[in-house]
Amino acid sequence: MTERHSALEERSPAPPPRNREISRGIPEIPVKLGNLPPLNAIANQVLTAVGRPSINYRTLASIMECDPAFAADALLIANSALFGFTSRIQELRHALAVLGLDRIKALAVTVALRSFMGKGGPQLRQCWRHSAACAMVARMVSPIFGITSDTAYTLGLLHDIGRLGLLKSYPAEYSPVLGGLFEDVEQVLSAERALLRVDHGVAGAWLVSNWSFPSTFAQACEHHHAPLAQDDPELLQVVKVSCRIAEAAGFAAVRYSPEPAYDEVIRSLPPHISAEAFPPAQDLSATVESQLKSFG
Ligand SMILES: [Fe+2]
Ligand SMILES: [Fe+2]
Repeated sequence: MTERHSALEERSPAPPPRNREISRGIPEIPVKLGNLPPLNAIANQVLTAVGRPSINYRTLASIMECDPAFAADALLIANSALFGFTSRIQELRHALAVLGLDRIKALAVTVALRSFMGKGGPQLRQCWRHSAACAMVARMVSPIFGITSDTAYTLGLLHDIGRLGLLKSYPAEYSPVLGGLFEDVEQVLSAERALLRVDHGVAGAWLVSNWSFPSTFAQACEHHHAPLAQDDPELLQVVKVSCRIAEAAGFAAVRYSPEPAYDEVIRSLPPHISAEAFPPAQDLSATVESQLKSFG
């Protein structure tokens, strides 16, 4: 697969109606999930504007500067280790010009998700650390799948948005799931369905569809815990692999017994995903940890 995808370029035409059925067999999305605030309006405007052929950096900066908190956060993240500048950038306009359009989309989603998360407790932070770690791994493995690194990163950040959504909308009900000890992910998903009628994959697919992300993103959110298949779309493969690697590198959102072993996870990947692409566990977790620090 040599064609490079930039899935954020093909955004879904219209959001689905609230409480729409995403998966067969799931009667409806729990009502409080539908009451969550939309993804940041400025991020939405940025994602739409970036898709226009005539867009320029000055217009993008003006959109972001409409919300000083968003602009400040965008500058902070642009200067973090995640976006890799060696010297500090003082001006948002300068940052945008250096980043380029694909990375600006990733930046807008990062800022929006941080604000969606708000000042959560330790469980929300644990979910966020897993998603951010998954995003960093996804960026690293994206060339294997012919996906642009920024699209892979963005999807990695969003793939478990269902967890954040369920925790924010049903904290009392969902908290025991995140605090539990599980044998495998199927047990986690069953516990979610028993408590809230949906698992976090379906909840996430519903949220990203409602926020007008491409249908490929919803598909990846919904099915990221299904076993890896060689005919899976590339985006889905990236997220399945990155989520498992992030868990095995010490960034799981829930606790497993036994804990997933990094080397075993790498060895279990199909032959088209070279084990050479992955650094030793300690190196990966040190890199992710240092990037998380700059992430805030
Ligand atoms: Fe997940
Ligand atoms: Fe995950």
